[in-house]
Amino acid sequence: MRTIIAGNWKMHKDRAEAQALIDALAEQVGNTERVEVIVAPPFPFLAMAVEHLRDAHIGVAAQNCHEALHGAFTGEVSAAMLKSVGVSACIVGHSERRQYYGETDAAVGGKIAALLHAGMLPIYCCGEMRAEREKGTHFEVVRAQMNEALGPISPADLAKVVVAYEPVWAIGTGLTATPQQAQEMHAFVRKELRMLAGDAAAAIPILYGGSMKPDNARELLACADVNGGLIGGAALDAGLFTELVRIAARAAAHTSIP
Ligand code: PGA
Repeated sequence: MRTIIAGNWKMHKDRAEAQALIDALAEQVGNTERVEVIVAPPFPFLAMAVEHLRDAHIGVAAQNCHEALHGAFTGEVSAAMLKSVGVSACIVGHSERRQYYGETDAAVGGKIAALLHAGMLPIYCCGEMRAEREKGTHFEVVRAQMNEALGPISPADLAKVVVAYEPVWAIGTGLTATPQQAQEMHAFVRKELRMLAGDAAAAIPILYGGSMKPDNARELLACADVNGGLIGGAALDAGLFTELVRIAARAAAHTSIP
């Protein structure tokens, strides 16, 4: 199983700050044989990130894309455009896009198809809101998100997708799912993936996202179905992000021992 640590910078950093973070990551992240490291800076810094992170083997993702190849969609960016500047992955369906920009599962499914068509890695985010967990509907919510966005995708293509479970109540709040809550939902996501993708589900990485930090990452990454993290706040600091990569590398080394 692959282990992935992906950093979502959201709408943070100006050019000089982005350059400084990219340089620090290139220098500090080091040998990442056991962990695939990906960063997702804002659009204006993607090409710069690709150029400066290539030798460090750190992949670059966008935070959003449009489902069409090109066209009259003012303000939008297509998967093919991202690919053409060396971007290899894209976060889609993040709860902030669902909440503030009304993105539906169907629209997100279209973005996933566009990314697969462009030969890129979609990182598909799903997860329940606080009220949904309190009502006990979190499994239903995640099942619906998965079925609607991933249902139309063929099993062969689903094998090229990464899922990130991000409970909305844990994003940027300092609250984290307990390892038990994370493992329970990740096992559920894996089961849903099995219905959609068959045997390929066993090899689809499922990342946890929501206030992951060096002090809670070890326990989360030790869970059987947690295959990495999608990191927000802690991805803005090269030291914290590098520490998370190291913790993930140790967890991966541990799980690979029979
Ligand atoms: P956080 O963000 O680590 O700041 O909670 C995670 C995310 O939104 O992907």
